[in-house]
Amino acid sequence: MPRPHADNRTATVFQEAARQAMERARRRTGALTDAVDDAELVRQHSALMSPLVWDLAHIASQEEIWLLRTVGRQEPLRPEIDDIYDAFRHARADRPQLPLLAPAEARVYARDVRNRVLDLMERVPSGEDPLTRDAFAFGMIAQHEQQHDETMLATHQLRTGAAVLEAPEPPRAFDVPSEEVVIPAGTFTMGTSAHPWALDNERPAHAVHVAAFALDTTPVTCGAFLAFVEDGGYNDPRLWTEEGWAHRVREEWTAPGFWVRDGRTWLRRRFGVLEPVPLGEPVVHVSWFEADAYARWAGRRLPTEAEWEKAARHDPATGLSRTYPWGEDEPTPEHANLGQRHLRPAAAGAYPAGASAHGVRQLLGDVWEWTSSDFTGYPGFAAWPYKEYSEVFFGRDYKVLRGGSFGTDAVACRGTFRNWDFPQRRQIFAGVRTARDAGPR
Ligand code: AVJ
Ligand code: FE
Repeated sequence: MPRPHADNRTATVFQEAARQAMERARRRTGALTDAVDDAELVRQHSALMSPLVWDLAHIASQEEIWLLRTVGRQEPLRPEIDDIYDAFRHARADRPQLPLLAPAEARVYARDVRNRVLDLMERVPSGEDPLTRDAFAFGMIAQHEQQHDETMLATHQLRTGAAVLEAPEPPRAFDVPSEEVVIPAGTFTMGTSAHPWALDNERPAHAVHVAAFALDTTPVTCGAFLAFVEDGGYNDPRLWTEEGWAHRVREEWTAPGFWVRDGRTWLRRRFGVLEPVPLGEPVVHVSWFEADAYARWAGRRLPTEAEWEKAARHDPATGLSRTYPWGEDEPTPEHANLGQRHLRPAAAGAYPAGASAHGVRQLLGDVWEWTSSDFTGYPGFAAWPYKEYSEVFFGRDYKVLRGGSFGTDAVACRGTFRNWDFPQRRQIFAGVRTARDAGPR
């Protein structure tokens, strides 16, 4: 994506960037939905997830509502389906019972909407309207599709049966100079007022003072997490919050999601393949409750959201906050494990070129990282362009995750990007990185 501060010359550059991001998203949507037959597209693999065909038509429905109807002021193509694809009207568990578009119909609808959008893009100026300035609405819709693509990837992980997705193996381990990085006390700029495609909850930029703290150089590995498991971490209520322990008991959790005990060792199921738990790879499919208990067991704690963002963005040499940990360059395969290029996290310590100014690695990509923070609006928050993107989720129910996973596309991932979920959620590609107070230095 081009740099902020659009003028007439850059206007078309943003539109071109949006078009490319939308096309990349659609290729991925196609790959995720073409990988299984129609019977599987309409099946619900878990009460936690929608049938894949719901995501497909919901993606197109949102694109129609925001781009064709709102930006283009066009009449609804199929007004009767609005209700079915409104995520707020129907819980995921109820979606299979809805009169969903059949796979072939959903594909035709998505193609039809996209063709009309490409046509609209030729005619809509990237003008003064905040919805179209710097092609914001188009960028928002590309991000929305990629967010659902990641959700569909999580649905693929939940399905049982033979593997249908393929990808090359990610990079092997690199040595890290030290296990943790100390970040001195001081103020940094959190959030952004400048990034043209930042979503409402990332805005506005504001100064935050952060006390000195230490942060793990890499996400916590399966090997480290296994030590917690073998030390009886899942059987010691003192390590868990009260609510977390209640969940652990009710769900009968004994290890991260998709881990399967095999005699004295552990295997894990990953996109239809059963394999030994990879000890050097960041642990994935842990809930906030498990991440929090692990950190307590390790004598540490989860980082706050502000700590995470300072570690990722603050450049002590300039005092400024970067867009990405490594700077302003768009993510490349040298920087981070993003975009489903691989179907697993890379080994801990990988991507030295993606390290932050403070030397913290793998902040973007690999696994989402749970923070201790509740999801709330920054000072001066204003819902834009709709309350249901973020504001309706603010409060104590959701915890913030940062950084993106191997299943997150670059367009939906940056140093300011905020994800959120229930603390019991573990079908998402979430892991953990721990912190500790470091005192004044
Ligand atoms: C930002 C990932 C929490 O999937 O629930 C998709 C994104 N919002 N459609 C979600 C979203 C509307 C959202 N997360
Ligand atoms: Fe959505």
